[in-house]
Amino acid sequence: MRIVVLATQKGGTGKTTLACSLAVAAMERGLRAGILDADPQATAQAWYRLRDAEGPDVAGVEPAEIPAVATAGGRYDLLMIDTAGQASAANAALRAADLCIVPCRPAPADILAAPVVADAARKLGKSLAFVLSQTPPRGGRAREAAEALSGSGTVAPVQIVSRIAFADAFGLGLGVTEYEPRGKAAAEIRALWEWIDKETR
Ligand SMILES: Nc1ncnc2c1ncn2[C@@H]1O[C@H](COP(=O)(O)OP(=O)(O)OP(=O)(O)O)[C@@H](O)[C@H]1O
Ligand SMILES: [Mg+2]
Repeated sequence: MRIVVLATQKGGTGKTTLACSLAVAAMERGLRAGILDADPQATAQAWYRLRDAEGPDVAGVEPAEIPAVATAGGRYDLLMIDTAGQASAANAALRAADLCIVPCRPAPADILAAPVVADAARKLGKSLAFVLSQTPPRGGRAREAAEALSGSGTVAPVQIVSRIAFADAFGLGLGVTEYEPRGKAAAEIRALWEWIDKETR
């Protein structure tokens, strides 16, 4: 079983959106995927309630319960753990992680915060990758942000552009690959999943 944690103390970067769409994309590739929602806001659980399709299972979890729940998660091939935008809350999840994904918007406030989670992951000996999220479709902003982030850790080679499909799919309890299978958002999520899949094999 692989455990991928979505973490960063910045709010609204796209942790929950990516957790849900990536879990669906992994399921479409034949993996048994589940999501642990460690955020008291319970946004992933709200998504799950909107959802008609089978899987991925979503369960709420207290940070302190994560080690036990992760150990018991043997019937899954993949557990995504969605965390609250707060460094302390993410640490329990980080301990269980095979890979920590840090969504980061191409804006100074997000980039300046990046070393905090990167240092926490490094201290625990955990792999981490930044994913540029909500990037403009054009222009050099995302490239500049990737350069700035590369000083703090690996930057995933796939960017997630700001696209209304992400918000609309979420509101229907869908992953973007279900909502608009041939759309650009779906292609980005599939590419990001393929990269994460390789990194965590
Ligand atoms: N790539 C994207 N394109 C457009 N909108 C996006 C994208 N990613 C996320 N959003 C929107 O941004 C908002 C925040 O996203 P999300 O809830 O996934 O962030 P979060 O990091 O989980 O936030 P929190 O820290 O509050 O848990 C939501 O309204 C979501 O629909
Ligand atoms: Mg969230």
